[in-house]
Amino acid sequence: MEKRIVGNWKMNGLSTSLREARAVADGLRGASARVALCPPSTLVERMARALAGTEVQVGGQDCRAEESGAFTGDVSAEMLADAGAVLVILGHSERRAGFGETDDLVSAKVGAALRAGLQPIVCVGETLAERESGRALDVVTAQVRGSLPASLDGKDFLLAYEPVWAIGTGLTPTLEQIAEVHAAIRAELVVRQGPSGARVPILYGGSVKPGNAAEILSTPEVGGALVGGASLKAADFLGIIAGA
Ligand code: 13P
Repeated sequence: MEKRIVGNWKMNGLSTSLREARAVADGLRGASARVALCPPSTLVERMARALAGTEVQVGGQDCRAEESGAFTGDVSAEMLADAGAVLVILGHSERRAGFGETDDLVSAKVGAALRAGLQPIVCVGETLAERESGRALDVVTAQVRGSLPASLDGKDFLLAYEPVWAIGTGLTPTLEQIAEVHAAIRAELVVRQGPSGARVPILYGGSVKPGNAAEILSTPEVGGALVGGASLKAADFLGIIAGA
């Protein structure tokens, strides 16, 4: 199946960075992967315009569960869709840890994304302490169970396994560890959703670089990559896409 390569720019990027997005689109020719970039919300609309007619999709990095209202500083799924996004990252560990986002809240946000016609990318992943205490699989499967609303069954969505300790650190799990967690996520999805759970792409995220992308992407049940730092420069991101 076609791999999904998604760049998460996090809180990086000004209007001058749009040239990197454009360079990704220009460099994609012949790539076998489906590619998306998730810039900060200030750039979603401009990036969607800049990439209109190209193969690169644009997504948001988070949304509020409500459609509108007195929520100063927040952005709804409808607003992201209106700005040209087709995807949205939800439940990233930087939001779970930094903003106290629970599985219930992530689940409500996933419902909001579906309501707005956005494809959710639901992130899960264990901390180093959880891995070292032998609880990685339990933590991740509980997050999968808790973060996916029943309304998601049969819908198009993506899962992303991002071990917290691998994000921005240059550390990555072994390929065996990645395969083990992805297999556990797959089993949970199939229990939950039946045959459609077997088709949900499960992306790996955490220090994916051009140098390790090909081996990670060829690991069993790895359906793509969610890339942070290395998605900011077109050359690096294209190097990762080339490994797909
Ligand atoms: P890095 O690729 O910078 O480790 O970030 C991964 C990530 O958090 C993507 O969402």
